[in-house]
Amino acid sequence: MVLEYKLLIDGESKDSSTGETFDDINPATLENLATVQVAGKEDVDRAVESAEEGLRVWSEVPAPRRAEVLFRAARILQERKEDLAVLMTEEMGKVLPETRGDVQEAIDITNYAAGEGRRMFGETTTSELKDKFCMTMLRPIGVVGMITPWNFPIAIPSWKIMPALIAGNAIVFKPSSDTPLLAIKLVEILMEAGLPPGVVNIVPGPGGSVGKAIVQHPRIKAISFTGSLETGKWIMGECAKTIKRVSLELGGKNPVIVMDDADLELALEGVLWGAFGTTGQRCTATSRLILHEKIKDEFISRLLAKTKSLRVGNGLLPETDIGPVINKAQLEKIERYVRIGKEEGATLLCGGNAIDPGLPGYFFEPTIFTDVTPDMRIAQEEIFGPVLSIIMVSGLEEAIEVANNTRYGLSSAIYTESIGNAFRAIKKIEAGITYVNAPTIGAEVHLPFGGVKGTGNGFREAGTEAIKEFTEVKAVYVDYSGRLQKAQIDTE
Ligand code: UN1
Repeated sequence: MVLEYKLLIDGESKDSSTGETFDDINPATLENLATVQVAGKEDVDRAVESAEEGLRVWSEVPAPRRAEVLFRAARILQERKEDLAVLMTEEMGKVLPETRGDVQEAIDITNYAAGEGRRMFGETTTSELKDKFCMTMLRPIGVVGMITPWNFPIAIPSWKIMPALIAGNAIVFKPSSDTPLLAIKLVEILMEAGLPPGVVNIVPGPGGSVGKAIVQHPRIKAISFTGSLETGKWIMGECAKTIKRVSLELGGKNPVIVMDDADLELALEGVLWGAFGTTGQRCTATSRLILHEKIKDEFISRLLAKTKSLRVGNGLLPETDIGPVINKAQLEKIERYVRIGKEEGATLLCGGNAIDPGLPGYFFEPTIFTDVTPDMRIAQEEIFGPVLSIIMVSGLEEAIEVANNTRYGLSSAIYTESIGNAFRAIKKIEAGITYVNAPTIGAEVHLPFGGVKGTGNGFREAGTEAIKEFTEVKAVYVDYSGRLQKAQIDTE
């Protein structure tokens, strides 16, 4: 029997007002893991009301006490890591070592955010006037709306939820319809750890209806969104109407520069992992290899040999390197980009086709295009699949120019043994993240995550910046002089 999941409002599983459900499909086997109720607009209203109740309670809990809930949640996540990882592989396909990493990333950010519970620091400073004291303090924003993707079904929600919680906010959360189960499990764990009812509410369903209702809701004070550039632009426009804070994380077209002085074996491993890890479905995925022409023949032939040895299949099996892509629409999008690449005149070096590894799901061969020029669509647009475009350059300056020639700016990497090349790239590449001698994927939770240009709007998730996304700063002046002192006037 297929389990049916409802909405999570006020700490309880509640029936939706729409009477509709959607299926949660395993992309490798096409088996239905669960049916999930679709929230309606009135359910979003109920979720906001519940969150406002939750906020009243939670914002009054001292941050170090909130931290105890998070530390407990991290321990439960740790205990259930293997079960959650297996479920994640079933729900969205990526291979088990990676789904274990996803859960680990959630454990790490939960512990990290919990630690911030004792570091909710403001600043103190002197006043320009006598007998007056100045300080800043952090306050929660209020009810925050969160819309998350399927590629990191526990890690990305945790990057948003945990810092928001430690700062005292309440949440209305719409997970991706491709990964509702992991989202529900995560919030259930938080509640088991002692999170009061109503602090996190889940309203599953499509972006076009549920996401829209969250974004447009007059009593939701901020939106945190990870997803496509097009949706992000729309959200930002909508948020202007209600003056909502909005933080966006919108993908990338991440380059790896491999210089002629690079350790080639190291660079090869990095490019393979960056391009084909998570079936290329990371916003940090390596989608452009910017290769020094002096090493092109050797590098490409070795890359080709290694790519051809990658095994595509069910992510639960230890021999699998690359799992399925998430769904049919995504598979078709990748096929479309392969056609576009060919039409644009790029050379298809390997892959390019959907394949059948003995399962009915959505599998695609690791694919490499060469003779790609920087302005081709396959060098500009985010494909979100196992497709790598190789662009040849004759030196570092050109490499950096090509690297910067996209609308995105999330992650980037350079392989070189020259410290000068490395630092020039660090300084000049327009991106939120630059790796030296490591691939574009693999950000750690105690560093800021996010990007420039079309990738984001200035906020960073995780790391030292995480709290800023979910707090307001208040300036406080305490005048103990006992008389009216006028700033800028009584300063003589
Ligand atoms: C994403 O693809 O949106 O750095 C997140 C990485 C992972 C997170 C990726 N830690 O690749």
